[in-house]
Amino acid sequence: MTGRLDGRTVVVTGAGSGMGRAFAGAFVAEGAVVGVLDRSEDLARAACDDLDREHPGRSVPLVADVRRREEVAAAFDRFLDAAGGLDVLFNNAGVNRPMHLLDVTEENWHLIMDVNALGTLIGIQEGARRMIPRGGGKIVNTSSMAGRQGFPSFAPYCASKFAVNALTQAAARGLAEHDITVNSFSPGVVDTPLWTALDADLVAIGDADEPGRAMAAFAEGILRGRPATPDDIVGTALYLASSDSDYLTGQTIMIDGGMVLL
Ligand SMILES: NC(=O)c1ccc[n+]([C@@H]2O[C@H](COP(=O)([O-])OP(=O)(O)OC[C@H]3O[C@@H](n4cnc5c(N)ncnc54)[C@H](O)[C@@H]3O)[C@@H](O)[C@H]2O)c1
Repeated sequence: MTGRLDGRTVVVTGAGSGMGRAFAGAFVAEGAVVGVLDRSEDLARAACDDLDREHPGRSVPLVADVRRREEVAAAFDRFLDAAGGLDVLFNNAGVNRPMHLLDVTEENWHLIMDVNALGTLIGIQEGARRMIPRGGGKIVNTSSMAGRQGFPSFAPYCASKFAVNALTQAAARGLAEHDITVNSFSPGVVDTPLWTALDADLVAIGDADEPGRAMAAFAEGILRGRPATPDDIVGTALYLASSDSDYLTGQTIMIDGGMVLL
């Protein structure tokens, strides 16, 4: 049987958990060799051990903090040595630490902007530098519905995801001559460890009465009637990783079950 990503080499950042982990599994199942990059070595290795059970030798654990250029560059080079190419890069690692607008500190701002926005810029640059000599590739950035709407307890997070959309457009224009497409996608509420932590943080700052309530409140207006699971997002990620999306660039696809209608 042939897969939609047969022979493709793909790196996914933040792939030790949540959506990135689900993408890595789907990409390997569709024939790709996948670099599972995470800041946590334990998570990256555990994900690859899982993947190895069904698809031995098709995933490569990579450890890097996406804020640190030298670590990202070394991880990408390690993947090139192991897999022989870098056709597709998913800049997916991200964090959120909610604070009320008037309480946001410089520390909170820098943490979120550095991981989500600077990490995406570094990924785009270091990924493109390695794709250009090979004749092109695809870069896909994880944005958010918070990249289309401002929420008062998520101000730095929203700014970081608006930045991801801006970087997507700038990079699409800047890298078109090298045959590199750059797109992003915007989930809404996805049930992952990120939301579990967010839920607890929102209780701590008084935005929700008890764990689970904040997610339920955010999910109320979803036209599809429920929050997403990572599997709900996999089809869009597969499309963006495959040749089906070759004519698409500079775009941000909403995959939020109908929360933000543009
Ligand atoms: N869960 C949601 O509702 C939701 C909605 C919209 C967008 N997103 C975005 O989706 C992406 C994935 O989120 P998730 O929900 O799967 O989260 P998650 O917390 O389950 O996974 C994120 C992974 O990124 C890794 N990571 C964090 N900081 C890193 C760094 N500096 N360098 C390298 N790795 C790092 C973590 O170790 C973790 O394995 C993020 O960009 C997030 O902002 C999530």
